[in-house]
Amino acid sequence: MSRKLILILSLLLVFLLTAVKAHNVSKNEQKVCALQHRSGSKHFPSNFKFGASTAAYQIEGGWNEDGRGPSIWDTFTHQHPEMIDDHSTGDEGPDSYHKFDKDLEALKELKVHFYRFSISWSRILPNADISSKNQKGIDYYNMIINKLLENGIEPVVTMFHYDLPESLNLYGGFTNLELIKYFTNYAKLLFETYGDRVKVWITFNEPYDYCIPGYGDGNYPPMGHDHGVADYLCMDTTLKAHAEVYRLYRQNFFEKQKGKIGMTLSTRFYFSKTNNSSIIDRAMQYSLGWLAYPLFGETGNYPQVMLDDIAKNSEEEGRAWSRLRSIAENERDIIKHSADFLGLNYYTSRYVEEANPAQGKKPSWQYDSRLKYELDVKWKRGKSNWLYCVPEGLEGLLNWIKNNYNNIEVIITENGWSDDGQLDDMERIDYLKAHLQAVLNAINMGCNVTRYTHWSLIDNFEWQRGYTEKFGLYYVNISSAGKERIAKYSARYYKSVIESKIIPDFVAGN
Ligand code: BGC
Repeated sequence: MSRKLILILSLLLVFLLTAVKAHNVSKNEQKVCALQHRSGSKHFPSNFKFGASTAAYQIEGGWNEDGRGPSIWDTFTHQHPEMIDDHSTGDEGPDSYHKFDKDLEALKELKVHFYRFSISWSRILPNADISSKNQKGIDYYNMIINKLLENGIEPVVTMFHYDLPESLNLYGGFTNLELIKYFTNYAKLLFETYGDRVKVWITFNEPYDYCIPGYGDGNYPPMGHDHGVADYLCMDTTLKAHAEVYRLYRQNFFEKQKGKIGMTLSTRFYFSKTNNSSIIDRAMQYSLGWLAYPLFGETGNYPQVMLDDIAKNSEEEGRAWSRLRSIAENERDIIKHSADFLGLNYYTSRYVEEANPAQGKKPSWQYDSRLKYELDVKWKRGKSNWLYCVPEGLEGLLNWIKNNYNNIEVIITENGWSDDGQLDDMERIDYLKAHLQAVLNAINMGCNVTRYTHWSLIDNFEWQRGYTEKFGLYYVNISSAGKERIAKYSARYYKSVIESKIIPDFVAGN
């Protein structure tokens, strides 16, 4: 091929790629991210609280400083850079271990009522066990809690956000029921140390999201590939550890400390193109219901549909027992109602249909659930390939929770939008506005939602996506030494919501 021809072909290719990209961008621009209707009052209740959230591994850095032990995310990012899009780690990240004051400035500027952050278990107990207490780690969180309170910001603390101490991983992590004892001892230390000042505790963040990829699909640490078995054990251990901690608090600490405890679950909401409510229910039981039903339902056991399906599939596979073991009778009373609120992470929704025949590896959650999902062409997509703006889903979900779990208190512990990190983040504002409207509508319909937490306060390490997707209200230049936090337009917008307790259409200066 002549050089001239190659040049012409290359130019043509560049032209085509640019045209396709422009087409996609404009296609996304035509899509709306808005909730059209408003039901009832446009004011949030006066006692409604707004906050912002982060998680230790995603923001702290200082991974091996002052006695911190390794977590499975340190091991994973160090040993498997190929598993992270930009081969990055959380070794340094936004460096909140040294720069908490910058986070505090952002929180004060936003005027949030509370800050949800997580404690790195291996920073305060490097070997996970209380024999390894690390005073410098303990002091770090005392410093955060005290500074928040001095500035009128309430600490909301997550005990576990994916970063399991490596030492527990050595003997099976969440597949070993021994973990319950370790977690309970860790929680006891947290209550003894911080419980005089922390009044809202979240035991675990999103069990489904660390159990399935961590023990089933193998694309999160500890890279287990035992789908349909080990991931189910992980969910089981998590549920039981949560319940033990709840009972411990109620028996030994509640009277004095008067706090409350919940677990954070993530779920999408589901729609049916054929108005098939039983398929929506099935999808909800297999996602939120898996742990929400034992906690907030009347049996203290897993949803019946899961118990039945998985027992049947296990028998067909020739197993001696079900891969989802029914919770023993004497444990059901410990689990039932062992949460004061439901922490809810909501990002997106899907259409759902029955998958007939079942899809996915055999055995696996996908196979057992017999569900398949679809998107709506009208839904606008964020930077993350799974994140579509569906505010109606949040309104539907909150109503579903009200109707199915006796209108339990819901704290929205995460909700947010990803992009490239630009300061003029108008899409994030649209997403925020639409989802706040969904929350307000749900409240006006009688849903017991008391708090909204935006994910995230600052741009941070987005797990396997590294630093390629940004969720922050504040931009952080990860490669600079100072790691300044710079308010995006959405920060200004959110601040005006918090100050006025209404959802403004427009904020001067944007
Ligand atoms: C997790 C966060 C994560 C966010 C965006 C949530 O599921 O709790 O850690 O950064 O989603 O993917």
